[in-house]
Amino acid sequence: MEKRIVGNWKMNGLSTSLREARAVADGLRGASARVALCPPSTLVERMARALAGTEVQVGGQDCRAEESGAFTGDVSAEMLADAGAVLVILGHSERRAGFGETDDLVSAKVGAALRAGLQPIVCVGETLAERESGRALDVVTAQVRGSLPASLDGKDFLLAYEPVWAIGTGLTPTLEQIAEVHAAIRAELVVRQGPSGARVPILYGGSVKPGNAAEILSTPEVGGALVGGASLKAADFLGIIAGA
Ligand code: PGA
Repeated sequence: MEKRIVGNWKMNGLSTSLREARAVADGLRGASARVALCPPSTLVERMARALAGTEVQVGGQDCRAEESGAFTGDVSAEMLADAGAVLVILGHSERRAGFGETDDLVSAKVGAALRAGLQPIVCVGETLAERESGRALDVVTAQVRGSLPASLDGKDFLLAYEPVWAIGTGLTPTLEQIAEVHAAIRAELVVRQGPSGARVPILYGGSVKPGNAAEILSTPEVGGALVGGASLKAADFLGIIAGA
């Protein structure tokens, strides 16, 4: 199946950065992966315009569960869709840890994304303490169970396994560890959704670079990559895409 490579720019990017996005689109010809970039919400509309007619999709990095209202500073799924986004990252560990997002809240946001016609990318992953205490699989499968609303069954969505300790650190799990967690997530999805759970792409995220992308992407049950730092420069991101 076609790999999905998604770049998460986090809180990085000004209008001048759009040239990197265009360079990704230009460099993509002949690539076998399906590619998306998730810029900060200030750039979603301009990036969607800049990439219109190319193969690169544009997504948001988070959304509020409500459609509209008195929520100063927040952005709804409908607003992201209106700006040209087609997908949205939800439950990233930087939001779970930094903004106290619970599985219930992530689940509500996933419902909001579906309501607005966005494809959710639902992130899960254990901390270093959880891994070292032997609880990685329990933590991750509990997050999968808690973060996916029943309304998601049969819908088009992506999962992303991102061990918290591998994000932005240069550390990555072994390929065996990645395969083990992805297999556990796959089993959970199949129990939950039956045959359609077997088709949900499960992305790996955390210090993916051009130098490690090919081996990670060829690990069993790895359906793509969610890339932070290395998605900011077109050359690095294209190097990762080339590994798909
Ligand atoms: P990183 O971030 O690639 O910079 O480790 C990954 C992510 O947070 O999605």
